[in-house]
Amino acid sequence: MSPSLPSEEPIVTAADPVPSPSAPADSAVPAGPPELPAEQIQQWHRSGGELIDLLRRAHALGPVSLLQLGPKPTVLLTDPAGIQHVLALNPDRYPKRSHRARALLGDGVLTAAGELWKRQRRLLQSYFTVQGTRRFTSAMHDAARHIATQWSHSADSGQARDITADMRFYALDVIWRALTGHGATADTLRVLSALDVILTALPVLPPPDGHQPDLGEHLATIHHIVDAAIAEARGTATPPGGPALLHSLIRAADEQCWPGNLIRDEVMTLLVAGQETTANTLVWLFLLLGQHPDERDRALRAGPAGGADRNRAFQALVSETLRLYPVAWLLPRHATEDDVVAGHRVRAGTTVLVCPYLTHRDPALWPEPERFLPGRFTAGHDRPTRPGAYYPFGLGPRACLGAQFALREAATLLEYLLPAYAATPDAAPEDAAYGITISPATAVRATITRPEQPPVTRSCG
Ligand code: HEM
Repeated sequence: MSPSLPSEEPIVTAADPVPSPSAPADSAVPAGPPELPAEQIQQWHRSGGELIDLLRRAHALGPVSLLQLGPKPTVLLTDPAGIQHVLALNPDRYPKRSHRARALLGDGVLTAAGELWKRQRRLLQSYFTVQGTRRFTSAMHDAARHIATQWSHSADSGQARDITADMRFYALDVIWRALTGHGATADTLRVLSALDVILTALPVLPPPDGHQPDLGEHLATIHHIVDAAIAEARGTATPPGGPALLHSLIRAADEQCWPGNLIRDEVMTLLVAGQETTANTLVWLFLLLGQHPDERDRALRAGPAGGADRNRAFQALVSETLRLYPVAWLLPRHATEDDVVAGHRVRAGTTVLVCPYLTHRDPALWPEPERFLPGRFTAGHDRPTRPGAYYPFGLGPRACLGAQFALREAATLLEYLLPAYAATPDAAPEDAAYGITISPATAVRATITRPEQPPVTRSCG
């Protein structure tokens, strides 16, 4: 897939050409970042390569680099201090523009800005803290049990499973249970298919002519089902065990007189932000464990089921997966003022592409960056701990709302599946697809077996 190029309104021309790195630098004004030659961009265009191929070339110039992708300059940023500067310390100077997602998510918390964003983030935040996500424990266990039952049947029959489909179903089932209080239905599965089409169609970066793919039919399918869920929640009492998210959204909307379709936008946001990201992370995790079965054994040996040591080991598996495959791999921002980022001048109007994928694989930061080494994340192992070296959930005020939810969700599924089953992929996909999220380029099928439980190793000391 050849990616589209960015062009965000308003079109701002870089009034002063950014000097090449070899140009004499004015001592008062830092030089612009090193620039990828135009011929390399044209060559990439002709080859129809993935955006990541071009970004890799730019990254080879340094942790801040410049590419003239469209009418406006684009800066690729992988430097930890620069990332901290843009995402965490100066988020108001580097807002999201969210063109890609607005057609899909309207004014939900992912795409909203200003006061509207603040109000929605405040409302949802309490559901997504470490403490807040506890209310979803039983939803996660019910959904995980369902997958474990399916894996048990496959282990009995010896037939390979589509674990991409499993992980997508699990992530949808969990978020649907969190929203509505009940599990995914046949209708909810239609949401999944429509979402799939939409997310595949959306360009990674905004297209130069502002043209958006026609998503009408698929959006209508999702809206119909989401609207029905909202109507049903309005007509039913709060579920036992406290309000499901949807009930809370409805209550807030009524009390605060939310405009038009904002409840629907918010539900769509949680479905989109919370489904594909977690599902792809889990698929990568099972793929990596299939290639490194010793890491599964090591995690199980770390301690008994339910204990802190085993939890930490499972957490390390997830963290290392997210290092290699930070599924939200590209975070675009818009520079509203002239600035200096990691020692380089960045002009107002520049698109800044913050790229966790390239930061996480930078050999200057991570030893043996291409290797799957979950031990990096257990105590006593060396890894860069400064902010901006590892940020699979973003940084700053717009960091992932659902990070704790996603981690709990992943850990719950691992508790059910890892001790009982091993998934051996039939064939590892050769490529990743770098779309809105990173996913294996093809669905992953795996044979499910019941290996011996490795003995728990007690550490003395
Ligand atoms: C492994 C799973 C996940 C990953 C890697 C992930 C990653 C991210 C990242 C990197 C951002 C920041 C985007 C940016 O700065 O431009 C983000 C934002 C967001 N995520 Fe997640 N996410 C995951 C799961 C979830 C889940 C489960 C939910 C909800 C249930 C969720 C809801 C959101 C929302 C609402 C935002 C927007 C926050 C805001 O702008 O205030 N995410 N996510």
